[in-house]
Amino acid sequence: MPGAIINNGSGKNYPGKLTFRVFITCITAAFGGLIFGYDLGISGGVTSMDPFLKKFFPNVYEKEANIKPSDNQYCKFDSQTLTLFTSSLYLAALVASLAASIITRLFGRRLTMITGGVLFLAGAALNGFAQEVWMLIVGRMLLGFGIGCANQSVPIYVSEVAPYKYRGALNNMFQLAITIGIFVANILNYFFDKMKNGEGWRYSLGFASVPAIMIIIGAIFLPDSPNSLIERGQNDKAKEELIKIRGTTDVDEEFQDLVLASDISKSVKHPWMSLLNRKYRPQLTMAIAIPFFQQLTGMNVITFYAPVLFKTIGFSGTASLMSALITGGCNMLATFVSIATVDKFGRRTLFLEGGIQMFICQIVVAIAIALKFGVDGDPGILPKWYAIVVVLCICVYVMGFAWSWGPLGWLVPSEIFPLEVRSAAQSINVSVNMICTFVIAQIFTTMLCHMKFGLFIFFAFFVIVMSTFIYKFLPETKGVPIEEMSTVWEKHPYWGKFVKDDDAKEEV
Ligand code: BGC
Repeated sequence: MPGAIINNGSGKNYPGKLTFRVFITCITAAFGGLIFGYDLGISGGVTSMDPFLKKFFPNVYEKEANIKPSDNQYCKFDSQTLTLFTSSLYLAALVASLAASIITRLFGRRLTMITGGVLFLAGAALNGFAQEVWMLIVGRMLLGFGIGCANQSVPIYVSEVAPYKYRGALNNMFQLAITIGIFVANILNYFFDKMKNGEGWRYSLGFASVPAIMIIIGAIFLPDSPNSLIERGQNDKAKEELIKIRGTTDVDEEFQDLVLASDISKSVKHPWMSLLNRKYRPQLTMAIAIPFFQQLTGMNVITFYAPVLFKTIGFSGTASLMSALITGGCNMLATFVSIATVDKFGRRTLFLEGGIQMFICQIVVAIAIALKFGVDGDPGILPKWYAIVVVLCICVYVMGFAWSWGPLGWLVPSEIFPLEVRSAAQSINVSVNMICTFVIAQIFTTMLCHMKFGLFIFFAFFVIVMSTFIYKFLPETKGVPIEEMSTVWEKHPYWGKFVKDDDAKEEV
């Protein structure tokens, strides 16, 4: 049998319960997801607001306003400058996540979170008061720096402080915060769009300061993770903290394992180079493949451009923002399913089920759009039932993502890296995620213009590829203590030989 069904029993069973302290700590840290989500959700709506387009992108506005029903509808938003507004942020996030790796390793996860919040706040202010396009772009870049810092530090922080039995659920709070951020952004766009003075977009962009302030204040009060304290030589403090978060004094075994992991980690002088060691091949592969595939689900076409997409297929402006709101709500609610099931059914089951669900919906949406628009992009008159079917299908698709690739795209990488390469590997994960997000955000309107309904078939194809990849190569990691994770690779039919063969070789 080709699949990798792995016995994940590592033999360790650290005592400790889900204490109030750890719960609050994880929730606070997960606020980091809000700034990311708010940003993901806000730009699509803003770029479909006419006063915003008129002020900063008059050419796009002209093109959209003057399009005739006989013109190709698929191409009405095709503008690289407009998409640069959305995508520039993710390039900045990529750079920041690499730099953040150093802060995270040397000064702790908290400081990276605070830095992220401050940069994000500055970006929100610049955007809210923007007069010129450059203010928008520089503001977006500052937001990007903030996101790079938050996404680099929050998932690993949560995975470190969470008791291993609840690690999946607590880590998925990060994704929940992302989806809340997106949803709140959708709601605000909907209302601010109605502002009579045409300045609603300023409020949409400026409101990003609220999640920024939340993460700054939250992170100031967070304790450092025991792993990070040990990494920085503060063993006594680390033990005290471990006792507090686990709610028991019986933490010796876990503490010893953390110290051991840290000793191994200290022998690694160049974490970036070490990642190239054969024994880290499974982790490196996952750090690249998981975020790459997460973006190739096509989810961000919906996140960024749902209003644009709905407008393209013939919805009115308000109906488009409303539909984006509906999909945003589904995204958020479905994340709870993931929180409730990830530590019970495991990561693989959710990945595979979500994949099938997304695939079916993408094919149905492709057929629906093809039947209505053909390749000429002529909508004719859209019957109500048609609009309902498209929105419904997109909702079921979004839900599939929300309990699989959405949260797991952050959870799985954050739990599989050994301490010695954790920070560097997480930076790779974030960078790959950001570069793929950038590419999708940048070329979506052009893809839609040229591939038309085939765009959905393109993403559906990748969903098949990624599901096969998970089936064959990803071992189950539920219920395995984070410092014991190496066992899952050792037992894996494919990865086992990489890990074992290399044991005897020297560290870089
Ligand atoms: C992804 C984002 C996506 C969001 C949607 C996140 O996990 O990284 O790219 O927009 O989920 O909910």
